[in-house]
Amino acid sequence: MYKVFINGYGIIGSRLASVLSKDNETKLVGIAKYSPDEKTQDAINRGYRVFVPNKHIKEFKKNNFDIAGNIEEAVIESDLVIDASSEGNGYKNKVKYYRPFGKKAIFQGGEDRYGKKSVAEIIHNSRINYDKTKGKDFVIQGSCNVTGMGKIIQPLIENYKDSIKRFDVNLIRRWADLEDKKEVKDSIEWDKDPHHQDDFKDIVPNINLYVDALKVPSRMMHLHQMTIRFSKSPPSKDALLKIFQDEFGVAILNNAKGTGEIRKKAIELKFEHGDTNMVHIHSELIRVQEDILKISYSDDQTGMVIPENYLLIQSMLGKKPRNEAIKLCDKLFGLKRKKKVLEKTYY
Ligand SMILES: NC(=O)c1ccc[n+]([C@@H]2O[C@H](COP(=O)([O-])OP(=O)(O)OC[C@H]3O[C@@H](n4cnc5c(N)ncnc54)[C@H](OP(=O)(O)O)[C@@H]3O)[C@@H](O)[C@H]2O)c1
Repeated sequence: MYKVFINGYGIIGSRLASVLSKDNETKLVGIAKYSPDEKTQDAINRGYRVFVPNKHIKEFKKNNFDIAGNIEEAVIESDLVIDASSEGNGYKNKVKYYRPFGKKAIFQGGEDRYGKKSVAEIIHNSRINYDKTKGKDFVIQGSCNVTGMGKIIQPLIENYKDSIKRFDVNLIRRWADLEDKKEVKDSIEWDKDPHHQDDFKDIVPNINLYVDALKVPSRMMHLHQMTIRFSKSPPSKDALLKIFQDEFGVAILNNAKGTGEIRKKAIELKFEHGDTNMVHIHSELIRVQEDILKISYSDDQTGMVIPENYLLIQSMLGKKPRNEAIKLCDKLFGLKRKKKVLEKTYY
């Protein structure tokens, strides 16, 4: 059994805890909290052991929280730590805990791949480089957008490598997550240097890819508009849909009205945390125009990386073959079932 500790219990950490606590292959050592707020009680009520930094123990106890110990103790007890901290803390945690105690760690997409605060030498995308992460000590799980791009780009490369000239992607990103307390600003904001392009090129080095990113006042998922230029005629819409019909973690939906409707549907269908955990190709938006193919798909920002982190554990600790890891992942997340339900709803 893999002993895993989750360092951080926010949007991503709480989702990882839900899933790992029910997995037969994993023992969830516990979760880390840094602020003695209502989410601490939520974790305790769910039966998780809560670990806090030494300097905060008194404060948590003063607030009557039943604390299991400090972060060092949890790290020592674990085989691997999933760092689900707010962006930028991963490096500090690596230096303070993971490296000194000789523990493997998975970092999230907000951490640095290069420079002084680089946390790992590889970014994982299960559709592209799962095998390269086998047995590794430190790996970054690509962000939700990088994960989503991989699910669409890799099958296209596998089928049309010789005739694709370039990929252009506009990432239309939500301002905040549904559970986020931060205000959604009434503005469309751009990113002058989106990290997603470099992150993706780190995974697929020679790809001719250009990414622009915009943030819009919404809490409901991302939408990616991808334009693919071909050196000869692009595939037809039918040929394209055939490629994606059996893709793991990709649903093909027709006539959904928008990202908000899909998120609300996932909540209504009682998908855990209201996540679909996948990308959804919107088939009515596929366009073939001269040498160009346009694909639009929505990307469940909060859910996308949760199965990815799970697959990464199977690779880093168990060195499992990808097909075996995918089977375990599907058993736990029910992704194929969710895909079927969504495709039946929007057909
Ligand atoms: N939100 C998304 O949709 C999404 C999607 C893909 C990837 N990501 C990435 O996942 C990471 C986490 O994002 P999030 O949205 O889950 O953030 P979040 O909701 O703000 O949660 C961050 C958590 O980090 C904890 N924390 C604070 N200081 C810490 C430290 N030194 N070490 C460890 N944990 C610490 C906070 O604890 P307290 O609450 O107790 O203070 C909080 O629970 C980021 O790298 C982000 O880029 C996020």
